[in-house]
Amino acid sequence: MSQRKNTVLSPEIVEAQKKVIDRIRIQNEEQIANGGIRKKAFVETYGCQQNVSDSEIIFGMLSQMGYDKASEKEEADIIIYNTCAVRENAELKVFGNLGALKHLKAKRPELIIGVCGCMMQQKSNAEQIRKKYKHVDLVFGTHSLYYFPSLLAEVIDKNSRVIDVRETDGAIAEDYPVVRAEGPCAWVSVMYGCNNFCSYCIVPYVRGRERSRSMEAIIKEVTSLAAEGYKEITLLGQNVNSYGKDLSDGPDFADLLNEVCKVDGIERVRFMTSHPKDISDKLIDTMASNPKICKQLHLPVQAGNNRVLQTMNRRYTKEDYLEKIEKIKAKMPDITLTSDIIVGFPGETKEEFEDTLDVLRKVRYDTIFSFIYSKRPGTPAATMDDCLTPEEKKECFSRLLEVQDKISLEKNQALSGKEMLVLTEGYSKTDSSVLSGRTEGGKIVNFRGSEELIGKFVKVKITEVRTWSLLGEIVD
Ligand code: SAH
Ligand code: SF4
Ligand code: F3S
Repeated sequence: MSQRKNTVLSPEIVEAQKKVIDRIRIQNEEQIANGGIRKKAFVETYGCQQNVSDSEIIFGMLSQMGYDKASEKEEADIIIYNTCAVRENAELKVFGNLGALKHLKAKRPELIIGVCGCMMQQKSNAEQIRKKYKHVDLVFGTHSLYYFPSLLAEVIDKNSRVIDVRETDGAIAEDYPVVRAEGPCAWVSVMYGCNNFCSYCIVPYVRGRERSRSMEAIIKEVTSLAAEGYKEITLLGQNVNSYGKDLSDGPDFADLLNEVCKVDGIERVRFMTSHPKDISDKLIDTMASNPKICKQLHLPVQAGNNRVLQTMNRRYTKEDYLEKIEKIKAKMPDITLTSDIIVGFPGETKEEFEDTLDVLRKVRYDTIFSFIYSKRPGTPAATMDDCLTPEEKKECFSRLLEVQDKISLEKNQALSGKEMLVLTEGYSKTDSSVLSGRTEGGKIVNFRGSEELIGKFVKVKITEVRTWSLLGEIVD
């Protein structure tokens, strides 16, 4: 692959944005000194962990500008939607929820509404917002993230709408403020963008080409996270196995993992996502030999039929994939394996879909994330002919879930009665009287215990298993 220049944003640009942050903070402080109340911001995130990570930067900037976190939209002075374009229903949800903000803006015209992220990186969506969603004040794409302070300042100063969808490939910026969700686990982006151009996927068009952060910057961030008390790090990228290919001194992803594991205080390291074509023996060996790297791998297969895989431009066959899985299982027999599956890719027949079920039965994933194919305008698959009807696709989808749910439950049943080390993350989202944490394999375990356990490792005996989670009791 040709070497590309690493596109780190110049320190002057970062400094200029920090000055804007300071200026807005001073304005907000003056406003409080004159009897006003502290302003609040609400950031809603759609889509993948990359967006979650970007939203942590957006809120980091807002926090430095003097905004507190609003617990609901109604009390916010600024609302930002960070959007996802990966499937049509993700987009429809955003348009629907944006429409619902119209009445808030009518009641409080000083409310600032911003929309950013992958959907906005597409001209047609940005244009639709400009024309039909006049209550939206600010629109910016993924490549404009680091210019958010000056874009917001323009909205505030000029009281006008601002739309910034720059075409240039995104850059990397270091030293931006980040405010993370509570708990002992942190997401750290190690690379951005994607070069793979799977024929169904919009991500390469809205996120630009692959670019890696320097190992030095990543280690600096992880070291400061450890000092803040974080115990678990998940390294993020659309295809982490490509990490370093654009860096001149060339560390690869396995090297990076080893370095991250050396940081004192960090006990667990996870990563996602890996592309099956790029997962190397070196990475498998590194995972197997380093005790801090969690034995958990998300390795999306997407489909099981070779013709379909080829049309998807995935660049591996079912046999290549299964061979890699065998290698991984041989080195790490207890590994948790997960996958993404697309049902009803254009031209996929019912017979071809059987190959996907065959992969599920052979690999025996712990969990899968499954999607019915959604046409993304501008991608090669958007012009391919379909052969299954929507009803037939739904039938295939139900069968897929039926096969997988049984496997997921069986895999969890094998854990019944076992004692497992769980990192307590907080209270359960569905029952605030119980604590929730994860095993090394990333399985959610709910158990009773006191608040001081949050952020700590506890040994839990599994007493009850479900398809999606485990229940347990602390053992001394
Ligand atoms: N980079 C990651 C994930 C990208 S998006 C990877 O390669 O695995 C997350 C998932 O969304 C994909 O794995 C795929 O299963 C699904 N997806 C992407 N485009 C889609 C589309 N047009 N229709 C349905 N599912 C899609
Ligand atoms: Fe999309 Fe494929 Fe890139 Fe994943 S690897 S983001 S599925 S193009
Ligand atoms: Fe969606 Fe963008 Fe992630 S399209 S899946 S939020 S990279």
